This record gives sequence, structure tokens and C-alpha cells, in this order.
Amino acid sequence: MKALILAGGLGTRLRPLTYYLPKPLVPLLGKPLVRHIIDPLPAEVDTVILAVSYMKDALEEYFRTHDVGRKVILVNEDQPLGTGGAIKNVSRYLDGTFIAFNGDVVCSIDLKDMLRFHRSHGGIGTMSLWQVEDPSAFGVVGRDGRGRITAFQEKPRKEEAISRAINAGVYIFEREILDHIPDGVVSMERQVFPNVLDRGLHGYEFKGYWVDCGTRESIIAAQRTLLDLGGGKVSPELIQEDDATVVGANLIMRAHLRGCRVGPHVYIEDDVLVSRGAEVSESILLRGALVEEGAKVRGSIIGPGHVVAKGQDVKDEILARS
Ligand code: GDD
Ligand code: MG
Repeated sequence: MKALILAGGLGTRLRPLTYYLPKPLVPLLGKPLVRHIIDPLPAEVDTVILAVSYMKDALEEYFRTHDVGRKVILVNEDQPLGTGGAIKNVSRYLDGTFIAFNGDVVCSIDLKDMLRFHRSHGGIGTMSLWQVEDPSAFGVVGRDGRGRITAFQEKPRKEEAISRAINAGVYIFEREILDHIPDGVVSMERQVFPNVLDRGLHGYEFKGYWVDCGTRESIIAAQRTLLDLGGGKVSPELIQEDDATVVGANLIMRAHLRGCRVGPHVYIEDDVLVSRGAEVSESILLRGALVEEGAKVRGSIIGPGHVVAKGQDVKDEILARS
């Protein structure tokens, strides 16, 4: 079986980090986002197709140097074709039922169970669903009593949303879906889903966690969720001196903490130095970042090698070379 990952977005909401790192390679707890999708795929998925356009070279380099245990095919779009155009553009690789993912979604979905659900309900496809308070930033579905989707609204105004069940960005499609995607730049959400409801599109709800990692807030929230679920640890190679304290759940690699306070919910990569009097919480410090004395970092992502100057107060920001 083939799995398709839509990974061509520009990642505008993660700039300046995404000026030199495509969104699928943004690390979430030491693992690129795209690996959070690939690694839990069921064994019957032997090929992963990545529909890319932005920063294809960086993705090619990643898959050339990392074995993910499956065949990986990167398919380029000279210009972004939209979520529907991207699916149509890889038609030649799709042979039967396939799984498709929005490339920025990390969740605890059980794909084997979703496949069972899809096979027993039939129809052109199954869409994963997740309940949220405010669905206005998402696709929203209406369903009948048997789980069949009867209406689809993309990013409705809050007061116009027909439910709080949103499109969670994981799908199982029959190849027939391709017949309903016109050529060119096409949005699945706006131009295809509303037109295939009569072919049988079912909604599959799941439990656990779900995060759209398209923004700084959501990546930090995803990190908090995964750390609280037990994803934390501290490398035995961490150098901790001058009463550096680490509080709460964190993932800390081969870094250097000197007389500072770190945590909770912090991910620190190799060769980071956090200096005396500095405080870091709810943040991501990428390889070689330097937090100078007395600086404060909260709710932020600090890019590779970036320096947070002495006494600087960084709150809810992404700092990286641009
Ligand atoms: N290859 C390719 N080409 N991929 C694309 C393109 C394109 O032109 N445009 C977007 N993508 C990829 C993005 O990289 C992302 O992984 C995925 O498609 C969804 O696009 P986003 O831009 O992140 O959409 P969104 O977050 O506003 O909304 C989508 O996701 C929500 C759930 O997170 C929609 O599918 C909503 O209905 C859904 O609720
Ligand atoms: Mg998104």
C-alpha cells in the first residue's frame, strides 16, 4: 500500500525557521515532523510518496542520508498545485486504496483501525475527525447518524460552523478520488470534498492527541503533549554545572547548562549552551544555539547557532537567521 504525504506548503507561519528548513523537517522532540508520520505507518505500507515543491533539495538530502525502512518517492511540483493538485500530480504512483496525510499533522491515530473502518464502511474515502472548541481555522464536517459526511465547510466563520468536528488531515482514499480532481491548482478542501459527498465519504473519530504543527504555538503545544506522555529524557552526555536546575518533563541532548533554570517542556539539541542566570521554558533550542547570561526564553523556537543576547527577554518568538 502507498502512503502520500502532502509536504509542499511554504510553512509561512513558521518563518524565519522555514526559510532554510522545509516544514516536514522541522524537529519535534528530536525527530523531523515527517518522521512522526512515517514511523507509525502500518507494515503494509511499503512506499511513501512525498508531494513537495518548496525546498525539495533539503528533503531529498534528508531521505538520501536517512533510511526510513520504506521506499520513498519525492514528487516535485514546479509551482504549488494545492492539496488536490498535489494528489492528482502523483496519480501515476497510486494503484489502489491509499492513505494521505497533511504533512504538518502529528497525532495518535490508529491507522490499522482506520483502515478496518474504511473497509467496512465502503465509499470513496474516509476522513479522520477531531473535536475542537473553535473550528474556524479548519475544515468542518456535518454527518448523518451512520458517520457519513453530509457537508464540508473549509474554515467557516465560527458562528457559521455546522459542528465542532474538524478534518484532522489524515485520509484513506480509493483511487477513484482522482477522477474527481480537475487538472491544475486545486484545493481538496474547497473544490473536491464538497463534490464527492454523494460517493460516500465517512468520518472516523479517534482518541488520544492531535496537533496541527503549522505554527509556533502548535509545535510547542505538540511538544508539551508528547513530553507529558512520557517523551522526555536527559542525555547522559548533558553537562550540568554551577547548580543548573532542570524542572518538569524535557528532552535534552548533549548540551551544556551552566547555573541556569531549564524546563518544563523544553527540547534542547546538541551543542547548545545555556548560561548563568538564564531561564528557558516551553521552548525549542536547536543545535548550537547560545542563550547568554540572564536571558529569558519562553514559548519560543531558537534556530541553529542563534544567539540570545545577555539579558534578552524572548517570549513567543521564532528566532533564526533569515
Ligand atoms: N505538495 C503540496 N502542494 N502540498 C501542499 C500544498 C501544495 O500546493 N499546499 C498545502 N500543502 C500541504 C501543506 O504542506 C500541509 O502539509 C497540508 O498540505 C495542508 O495544508 P495547510 O496549508 O497546512 O492547510 P491548513 O492547515 O490551513 O488546513 C488543512 O489542515 C487542517 C488540519 O490541520 C485543511 O486540510 C483543513 O481542512 C484541516 O482541518
Ligand atoms: Mg496545516
